[in-house]
Amino acid sequence: MQKVVAQTVLHGVYILTAAEGERRNGMTAAWVCQVSFRPLIVAVSVAPERYTFDLIDKSGYFALCALKAGQEKDAKHFGFVSGRKGDKFEGYKISAAANGSPVLEDSVAYLECKVVERVLAGDHTLFLGEVVDGKVLQGGEPLPFRWSDYFK
Ligand SMILES: Cc1cc2nc3c(=O)[nH]c(=O)nc-3n(C[C@H](O)[C@H](O)[C@H](O)COP(=O)(O)O)c2cc1C
Repeated sequence: MQKVVAQTVLHGVYILTAAEGERRNGMTAAWVCQVSFRPLIVAVSVAPERYTFDLIDKSGYFALCALKAGQEKDAKHFGFVSGRKGDKFEGYKISAAANGSPVLEDSVAYLECKVVERVLAGDHTLFLGEVVDGKVLQGGEPLPFRWSDYFK
């Protein structure tokens, strides 16, 4: 049934980042959506075992960097290895959003969000984040998420 869900509910591909003290990290996330207009709130769905979960939970902030069409390699780099095993940002140009969340310069645009609510959702947690910063960087066509590009 997961493949049917993936054919029905469309997503983009993002690098979801967070920083806490000296620690910073990013992971690939597809389960992302806008949930409010006033104020602007987006939701990200993160499994508790992700290193990024820990950093979002402790810092109360996250950033979403939208990947461009053709950046599947970057999505795999950030999506199949944990930052607990090494610095995934090595070799990437990274800046910081207003509240310190890492920003991947080679992305379409980014948002930084302040966590306003956490909602348990099965085996994931939804972090609802109010948008506090953001900018269009390179612009261009965003990368659509296709289940078959990453999973069997
Ligand atoms: C295309 C793609 C989309 C993903 N989307 C999500 C997601 O929305 N939520 C999630 O918890 N994990 C998602 N993952 C898995 C994490 O990116 C992966 O477990 C990552 O290694 C976690 O890194 P971390 O431990 O450094 O945080 C996705 C992976 C891929 C390849």
